[in-house]
Amino acid sequence: MFRPHKAKRTMSLIALVAALAAATPALSSPEGDYLRFCSLCHGFDGTGKGPLADALKKPPANLTLLTRRHGDKFPAEYVKEVITKGGDIIGHGSSEMLPWGPTFSAEEAGGMPDDRIRIEGLVRYIESIQAP
Ligand code: HEC
Repeated sequence: MFRPHKAKRTMSLIALVAALAAATPALSSPEGDYLRFCSLCHGFDGTGKGPLADALKKPPANLTLLTRRHGDKFPAEYVKEVITKGGDIIGHGSSEMLPWGPTFSAEEAGGMPDDRIRIEGLVRYIESIQAP
C-alpha cells in the first residue's frame, strides 16, 4: 500500500542526511567519513540501527555481517560498488541507499583528498568492523 505521508517523511529524512553530511566540517578519516555519511542509517556500530532506520522503507543492512554472508570472505569490491553507485546495484532498486561516489568526487574538487582513496578507506573501515 502506498503511504504518501511515510514516503514524504522518508524523503525529507534523506534530504536531512544529505544536508548534515554537507554541513559537517570535513573530517577526513575513514571512521570520520563513516560517522558522517553512513551512521545515521547503518548505526554507529554498523549493525543497521541508526537513528533514521525506522523511518526507512527498507531496513539499512547490518554491515558487520558482510563477511559471514559472503562465504567468510569480505566482499571488498561489492562494498566499493555499493558505496559508489548506491543501492540500485543490489538488484531490488532501493533508492534509500544513495550513491556516494558523486559526493566524494565533489569534495575532492573542493580540496578534499582523492575520492578513490577515501572510498577505499571506508571499505577497509567496514572490513574492520566485521563480526568474528
Ligand atoms: C539514508 C540511509 C542510508 C545511508 C545514509 C547509507 N545507507 Fe547503506 N544502505 C541503506 C539501506 C536501506 C540499505 C539496504 C538496501 C537494499 O537492500 O536494497 C543499504 C545497503 C548498504 C550496503 C549493502 C549491504 C548488503 O547487505 O548487501 C552497503 C555495503 C552499504 N549500505 C554501505 C553504506 C555506506 C558505506 C554508507 C556511507 C557512505 C551508507 N551505506 C549510507 C541505507 C543507507
